[in-house]
Parts: sequence; C-alpha cells; structure tokens
Amino acid sequence: MKVEFVEKKFTEVKAGALILVLTKEDVAPEKGSRNQSSKLTSLFREDKAQVEAAIKGSEFNGDKDQRLTIYSVGKHRVVFLVGVGEKSQLTSEKIRRAAAAGIKSAQSSKVISVVLSALDSSVEQVSDYETVHSLLEGAILGAYKFDKYLTQNKKSSKIDSFIVAIEDVQSAIGKKAAKDAHLLCEAVYLARDLSNAPANEIYPEALANVAVKMAKRYHVRARILDEKQIKKLKMGGLLAVNSGSAKPPRFITLEYKGNSKSRNWYAIVGKGITFDSGGISLKPAAGMGEMKMDMSGAAVVIGTIQALASLKIPVNVVGIAPSTENLPGGSAYKPGDIVTTMSGITIEVDNTDAEGRIILSDGLYYAQRYRPKAIIDLATLTGACVVALGQHATGMFGTGEDVMAQLKEAGEKTYERVWQLPIYEEYEKQIKSDVADVKNVGGKWAGAITAALFLKKFVGDYPWVHLDIAGTAMLEDATDYAPKGGSGVGVRLLTQFFKQVAS
Ligand code: BES
Ligand code: MN
Ligand code: ZN
Repeated sequence: MKVEFVEKKFTEVKAGALILVLTKEDVAPEKGSRNQSSKLTSLFREDKAQVEAAIKGSEFNGDKDQRLTIYSVGKHRVVFLVGVGEKSQLTSEKIRRAAAAGIKSAQSSKVISVVLSALDSSVEQVSDYETVHSLLEGAILGAYKFDKYLTQNKKSSKIDSFIVAIEDVQSAIGKKAAKDAHLLCEAVYLARDLSNAPANEIYPEALANVAVKMAKRYHVRARILDEKQIKKLKMGGLLAVNSGSAKPPRFITLEYKGNSKSRNWYAIVGKGITFDSGGISLKPAAGMGEMKMDMSGAAVVIGTIQALASLKIPVNVVGIAPSTENLPGGSAYKPGDIVTTMSGITIEVDNTDAEGRIILSDGLYYAQRYRPKAIIDLATLTGACVVALGQHATGMFGTGEDVMAQLKEAGEKTYERVWQLPIYEEYEKQIKSDVADVKNVGGKWAGAITAALFLKKFVGDYPWVHLDIAGTAMLEDATDYAPKGGSGVGVRLLTQFFKQVAS
C-alpha cells in the first residue's frame, strides 16, 4: 500500500479518483458571481466551467454528509465532493468520516488509486497535521476489507494508493502526518485481520506466531510461554479453560522499550480466547461463529505494541495476552470446579462461559511482575456491556482515576470513546462464593460490573483500568470507517493514550 503526502495542487496529481473534503465556505459562490464560481471551482482552472455547471445542477453546497460525483475532470476519471458543513464546526472526526465516504464511492467505481484533498487546511481547531492525518485515517480505515477468502466475484476494488495533495501544508508536516497515519492504520489492520480470521486459522499457537513475527519486524522482545511453562507458573485459570481444547494454550508477552531512560512500565493485557463456544455451559448455535473474535483484546494488544514500536513512542509497555480456546469435551472444566490461579486465589466455576475473566486472572497477576505504573486490560468480556452501551462506546471500569481521565480524553480525540461504569463495593457480594475465594459469575444484574469486580481481585494495588470491548470490537453493523466484524478498536485509543503519557 502506498501512502503519501505531496505539497501540490490536487489537480496536478494523477489518480483514479479525486476525493475533495469541502466546507460550506469552500463551495459558497463568490459575492456577485453569476455562476457558481467559488474558492473550489477556481482551483480547477481550465475545467472550472465543468465543475461549476455540475455544482449548479445539483443541491451540493458543502453541507455535512452531502455528496456529488463528477466524471472526467482533467486528470481524474471521477471526482467525489464530500461536504463537512461549516468551517467553524469542523472536527477531525468529520474529516475522517468524509474521507471514508469518498473511499466507499471510489471503491464502487472500481478505482485503485485516490488523491485526497481539503481546501483550507488552516482551521483553528484542526491543525495541518491533523487534517492530513485524519484524511488518511478515514480513507485507509474506510477502505479495509476482510476479503482474503473471497476467491470469486469481489464486488469492489481494493485501493492501494492513497495520496494527500494540499498545496498550503508544509511538506515536512504533511509527510510526517502521512507516515504516522500509515503506520497507525497498518496496526489497526493487523488487529482487524486477527479478529476476523477464523478460529481454524488463528488458534493460540498461530496467534503467538503472529506476535513473534511482528516483534521481530519491529525490534520488540517477544516471549511466548508454552504449556509446560504455563504449568510451571501454575496458571490454573488459563489451564482450566484450556482443558477442553485439543490445542495447547499460549501466554504471549511483548516488551516494547521505547524509553531506555525510564524504568517505568505500563502493562496492557488482552483476552485471547481464539474461540468461545461457552464450554460445557454451551452457547446457543445462532451467532456462535462470531466468537472467533473473542481474542480481540489480544489482537489489540499486539496491534498497539506494533503501533507504538513503529511510531517510536517513547514509553515502556509490556503487552500480555493469555490465549486458549474454550471448548466442551471429556476433559473440559465444569461448573462446580474449583480452580487455583497463579495468584493463589481460588475460583468457583459456576458457568464455563464466563471464561475470559478466568484466563485474565493469570494475565493480570502476571502483569504485576513489571511493577507497572498502570495495568490496562481489554476484553470482549460480557454480553451485559453490549446491552448497556451497544457498539458506540467501550465500557470502562477501574481504580486508576488519572489513567481513566487520560483514556477519556484519548477516546474523544480518536473517537474510540469510552464510558465509565461504577465498581461500587456493594456489587461485590454477587460474586461471593461459599466454597472458594470468588465465583466466576455474579447473577443476572450488572453483569459487566461484576465481571470487572472479579478482575479487580487480581491486580493488587496497582492502578488498573478494564475496558470491556465486547460491543465495540466485534461490530454487528458497519460504522463510518469500520466494516461489520473486527474493528480493531483500542489500537488508536491506546496509541493516543501513550502519546499523551509520553508528552
Ligand atoms: N465472550 C463472551 C462475551 C461476549 C458476548 C462478547 C457477546 C461479545 C458479544 C464471554 O465469554 C461470555 O460468554 N460472557 C457471558 C458471561 C456470563 C456467562 C456471566 C455473557 O456475557 O453472557
Ligand atoms: Mn464466554
Ligand atoms: Zn468469551
């Protein structure tokens, strides 16, 4: 994939399609002009009359979500105009969405290369860097398709060249923004690909292999614990969930040391259930296939480490992902079982489908070895969180107040938004067990909260934040720049968070 910034007029750059993200001001006719002469149309020079006529014959005036297609203009087979509304109301998110809308049109026109532009980069609330970055984020993320297994009849084209051309953005700034956006989007693609991959392709060993490959490429230290080592460490939670699976578990660790001057570590821990059938507490058949994405937390951890390493963010982060399938069988763990975790804390298994928290118990406890500044975990943990927040906000829980405030800010900035839910101690009695230290389910009410309170038992006194991405990582419906399926949510959020930490 080619991603580039050029300090040129968009009319001078050849590509299959031209996508123009326009404010109302860009399209407004100049005072006293009889035709539609505007800031936009004057940029087209010899093709000015054609563009003016097209706009005149349409309703297009740059309002948000408006679109206009014009064929064969100068160097471009097709031009897509996308409105973002008033300049004073412009945001990065509007730019991302507009770019993604342009890309969808380009794909249906079977185009394979695009040039993107915005006329006025100098808007107070969106910097030049952000303009270029957002155009590319929207375009590249919006172009994503999981079509590896479609051998026939691909319905639309795969765009593999994205160029941003803006004449009045300094070359150095534009090029840096393009490079950063490219690297970030590659990491999101990795997380999406891993989530979407079927469970016969991505099982624990395969997931670990992807992590190792990524680590080699970006000079990150990977350490993968196999079954023998997992047994030696007495990770009873991970082993219990794994017991019904024919495939061995893996415990993935990735150490990214971006700041050699600091001894501070942050830990990010992701749930890596490569398939969740529910186990003996079997899930219903309908929709069970989606549970191939139950390793999305682990995918985000791997993707985030790639993003941090490729962007060289000066922080030290360890990524941790316990991974196994959750299957029924003659050797599977059962309701009523009592499991001793690495921490020594015992768990009464009441429902084998509440397996994520069981493997995370060992992942979170292991994270304490780094004496981290904070532990952040990501997990497709509960259906209850999807009931509460749907697919437009990630559930946030925790004890690290500063970290949560920073994540909230990073969420608004990236639009991977988080919403905090309480973990009042009153809820805790729901997970009390008569026979063990804790029970793995908390009854009918507040399921996302009782799951969070379960996790809290394994983080010691470290500041900790739990992100329940069950609704946001496995999309039931496409969003503006993520198709149905794995969204990679968390990669952009955490990368932004660590940028904030670093500065
Ligand atoms: N992986 C599921 C949670 C999930 C549900 C993710 C829907 C995405 C969409 C998790 O392992 C699970 O099965 N949770 C149970 C817990 C219950 C048994 C307490 C749930 O939410 O139903
Ligand atoms: Mn489950
Ligand atoms: Zn699960």
